[in-house]
Amino acid sequence: MNTNSEIEARIKRLRDILNEQSYKYYVLNAPDISDIEFDKLMHELKMLEETYPEFYDANSPTVRVGSDITNTFEQVRHKYPMLSLANTYNENELYEFDKRVRKEITTPVQYVCELKFDGTAISLIYENGILKQAITRGDGTFGDEVTANVRTVKSVPLILHGNNYPSHFEIRGEIYMPHKSFERLNAEKEDIGETPFANPRNAAAGTLKLQNPQLVAHRGLDCFFYTLYGENLPYTSHYDTLQECKSWGFKVSEAMKRFSFIEEVIEYIHFWDKKRKTLPYDTDGMVIKVDSFAQQQLLGFTAKAPRWAVAYKFKAEQARTRLISIDYQVGRTGAITPVANLEPVKLAGTTVKRASLHNAEQIALLDIRIGDMVYVEKGGEIIPKIVGTDLSARDIFSIPVNYITCCPACGTQLVKVENEAKHYCPNQLHCPPQIVGRMIHFISRKAMNIDGLGEETIEMLYQNGLVHDIADIYSLKKEQLVILERLGEKSADNIINSIEKSKQVPFSRVLFALGIRFVGETTAKKIAKVVGNIDTLSSASKEQLLEIEEVGDKIADSILSYFSDETSIDLIKRLKVAGLNFSEYKKEPKSDILANKNIVISGVFNHHSREEYKEIIEEYGGKNVSSISSKTSFVLAGANMGPAKLQKAEKLGVSIIDEIQFLEMIQNR
Ligand code: IVH
Repeated sequence: MNTNSEIEARIKRLRDILNEQSYKYYVLNAPDISDIEFDKLMHELKMLEETYPEFYDANSPTVRVGSDITNTFEQVRHKYPMLSLANTYNENELYEFDKRVRKEITTPVQYVCELKFDGTAISLIYENGILKQAITRGDGTFGDEVTANVRTVKSVPLILHGNNYPSHFEIRGEIYMPHKSFERLNAEKEDIGETPFANPRNAAAGTLKLQNPQLVAHRGLDCFFYTLYGENLPYTSHYDTLQECKSWGFKVSEAMKRFSFIEEVIEYIHFWDKKRKTLPYDTDGMVIKVDSFAQQQLLGFTAKAPRWAVAYKFKAEQARTRLISIDYQVGRTGAITPVANLEPVKLAGTTVKRASLHNAEQIALLDIRIGDMVYVEKGGEIIPKIVGTDLSARDIFSIPVNYITCCPACGTQLVKVENEAKHYCPNQLHCPPQIVGRMIHFISRKAMNIDGLGEETIEMLYQNGLVHDIADIYSLKKEQLVILERLGEKSADNIINSIEKSKQVPFSRVLFALGIRFVGETTAKKIAKVVGNIDTLSSASKEQLLEIEEVGDKIADSILSYFSDETSIDLIKRLKVAGLNFSEYKKEPKSDILANKNIVISGVFNHHSREEYKEIIEEYGGKNVSSISSKTSFVLAGANMGPAKLQKAEKLGVSIIDEIQFLEMIQNR
């Protein structure tokens, strides 16, 4: 049997290894253990921490995503104002900057040239090697305290390495969303019929302001650091200081270089203007800084920006080409997206033939007309978009675009809901691209995961009248598949097997697969957990739906409208007969110590998140309820329990139990 001190030592050792490996993985990009090994160690640590809550530590690598409490952000005053940078757009302006600097500084000057990351600025405060606060730029004087969200960013160290960092300092950097995360996020958004983010910068800024750190963690943000502020810094220059920051655990870009002459800086900018296109994240320019802190001090600041630094903005890559025609695509939710057909043109290494026009408003705003010479840009370097038109090259007989009023696929009159950018085709049941789109969504990996059945096969099955809706998939026979063009015996077997296997998919994913508007993967999980089965969901009132975390007006209305439709009810009946999971698999209770107890959870906790406490309550036979009433058995209260709840509990004589009392209550049961 291990003694307590052996266990404590093991926990500490695991935390050290995992911190070190996270740093190597997320900051240095050079892990020296495999992902499997990493997950194994993380699992061991989680198990030990669960069994021995007395060794809890808020900075353990297991609690990057701590509580999921949602609160509005507190405004905090910046100790050092967060300024912006003066911009330059050509080499001449850089020569002028160099001249201004050398006029005031008579000693030799060195410049540091670094990438200008295109994200959102963040300021982190560390005390005695521990992350204390993360604050957004805000208006430069006051920012939002977003510590819980920033803690989820894996390249942000929660505890610093080594021991030669200053006891108090502030470090600033750029939180950004890598292209991969951005693409995944927008695909998810489109899946649920939400407007995707226009670019990774907006996505990063939007994500930092989410109310739920667990969602932030899922979005894959990253961070580069570029300035250190503090009283007794160990070095006298920007470059040396940032190199040192690396050894404390901060991610500092390797692209940063020091030069003695502005000509070298310009050459380096040329190099990155090309090379940046290969980076997995966006940059919008380079920043040139005077290296010496003493010289920086001599140069000082204007009201808005330092005089010792300047940004050089890269030109967004644009191409000019002719707009031949506009297609209108119908998504699975009925949303219409206008897509431009262009005369093929080279842009940032690829040939662009099609570009997004977003929606009717955008077309009218830019007054884009068919036949125009238009400018195409790569939005966030990924999806090409039309950003303007060359009026001087316009045909005098051209006419403004007449946006379609009827669905291009089924002819139904389109509708436009106020405050939503896109037009919709309301003919959900009979509009072919919507039917096919829903089926494609249904079989997708995160939904029913019916591999073997791809987009093309679905299209073919639909065209051949073999499937009309998602339930028909479960009546498919091998013989029907084999006679379809290009499908051999083996593929047909594969498809039949994976359809059969999909019957094991848990309720939450079935719910996501149904494709109810605005019910994405995460929301479906939350809903499935709370309602437990489809019948409870289909008969829930709006008030009951709104009680579910993450469900707001828009989602609640969409669910109500889905279940008020006879066709949906019939579809679910047929899917039930086919054997799909329409209720949440219930874990066997660990004990019945909390049987018949209605428990309200309120406040912020140290040992487990609210979600985890909900699970624990269920595991021990209890029921988590959302509001206090005379039927409430007790309130499990963390820090900052709302005063209204407290008053109500006192008035009704409901007892309040803190986290430790609760954990003791269930321990060894
Ligand atoms: S230094 C006094 N370095 O650009 C301002 N900023 O336009 C010192 N940015 O708010 C900022 N990469 O969010 C600096 N390598 C870099 C940067 C960088 C991106 C952002 C930052 C700042 C904005 C100014």
